[in-house]
Amino acid sequence: MTAAWTPVALARDLPRLGVMPVCVDSIDVALWRSASGRLAAWADRCPHRGMRLSHGFVRGEALSCIYHGWSYGADGHCLRIPAHPDLAPPEAIRVPVFHATESSGVIWVAPEVPDGMPATVEGTALRSLTVEAAVDWGAAGFSLSGQIARGQLSGVGVTILMQPLPNGRFVLHALAEATASPSAMTQVSRGLEDMRRQAEGALA
Ligand code: FES
Repeated sequence: MTAAWTPVALARDLPRLGVMPVCVDSIDVALWRSASGRLAAWADRCPHRGMRLSHGFVRGEALSCIYHGWSYGADGHCLRIPAHPDLAPPEAIRVPVFHATESSGVIWVAPEVPDGMPATVEGTALRSLTVEAAVDWGAAGFSLSGQIARGQLSGVGVTILMQPLPNGRFVLHALAEATASPSAMTQVSRGLEDMRRQAEGALA
């Protein structure tokens, strides 16, 4: 089985030792970055008692659960159970690991074997924002290709990557022309918020 990559975050929004929850194909994912900068996307559920691993904390190259402190290494295998420090955790205690990569300043995740690499997109990562409704890209003057919309806001070329969420919601990850000035970037950011208001206003 193959699957597409889904954009889930701007790379700059996940620093080293950071962990955050994201959603891919309705699957809850714990996205985290180790001390050395290695990126990982795991099922957001601790094998012990189901606590969200995205509430956990990163130490070195491992992610630890906030509840009882079980820690998991790069391959998802349990490394340590604090209540039983002398026990070598069985191989079977393992978090499902998904495919994750960075490209064009964006983090992409694929729960199944991805079909090739993520699309190459141009621009400087600007911001991500959640929209409670689908944007009418044509009305906004954008062209749509798959999950990528391209157009202009305030005269600046903008590329928007769509991350579908359950219940018709989306996260939009926006990149803007690298040559745009800081004030133009601010205008683009406001334009994105206008776009969101229009989309959500259409629901009212
Ligand atoms: S639920 Fe994660 S360590 Fe217990």
